[in-house]
Amino acid sequence: MRRLENWDNNTWLSSEKYISKFHKFLRLKFKFNKDSKILDIGCGRANIISYLQKKYKFKNKATGIDIVKNKNIKKNILFKKFDAIDYLKRKEKFDLIIIKQTIHFFSKKRLISLLNLSKKSLNSRGKLLIFSLKTKNNKIPCYNDMKKKLIKSLKKDEVLLRMVKKNLYKTNETNFHFKVKISKQKYIKMIKNRYISCLLNVTNRQLNKGIDEIKLKLKNQIKFTDTLKCISFRK
Ligand SMILES: C[S@@+](CC[C@H](N)C(=O)[O-])C[C@H]1O[C@@H](n2cnc3c(N)ncnc32)[C@H](O)[C@@H]1O
Repeated sequence: MRRLENWDNNTWLSSEKYISKFHKFLRLKFKFNKDSKILDIGCGRANIISYLQKKYKFKNKATGIDIVKNKNIKKNILFKKFDAIDYLKRKEKFDLIIIKQTIHFFSKKRLISLLNLSKKSLNSRGKLLIFSLKTKNNKIPCYNDMKKKLIKSLKKDEVLLRMVKKNLYKTNETNFHFKVKISKQKYIKMIKNRYISCLLNVTNRQLNKGIDEIKLKLKNQIKFTDTLKCISFRK
């Protein structure tokens, strides 16, 4: 299976505006200070923790782990190419663990291990924040087959999120919203780059057919709200 490499490669998810809005949301959930120890599981290019590191100047550099080591990963953080579960078995402790848009890569069995190990890796009063795409009435622009694949994947997410809430037991749930404005041309480039996991396994022919559909169907300026569910757990 292809790996996800272009999720945050010059997309709204790596934009200053998005990261800054995401930070505002994070600070409602966690009181950052210089001594905070932060881990981002499935960090991609580490845009989020890089922003946090710059802002709060953590004494222990924020750590990001990912199974893919992309070319332009942010340099001001500690990046480790690791599988999440293998990394967490090293028993390091953190004050905040972020798992953003990553749980859908885990089987049910591995998700339970990920949750149990994450809980064990929290300092006392530490926070675990799990973010996942809103599963109902999601607004991500799609061509027809992409939509079918996305709905299937969101159905799987619903099962995983139920497991998360059952496992963590005492959780709090909120939503993060970001208003996306993107040109059709740029969005087509994102689709060509297979930015989202439901595009990883489609053939080039299917992808090109989908792009033709998007060209006809969508306006030159695409506007929609990207909504994430956030499940928050405190130790
Ligand atoms: C959709 S991206 C999200 C990236 C980033 N968290 C963000 O929201 O911008 C999911 C990331 O999880 C990573 N990933 C998938 N399985 C993983 C695993 N077992 N251990 C660590 N990272 C993993 C992927 O390589 C990818 O970079």
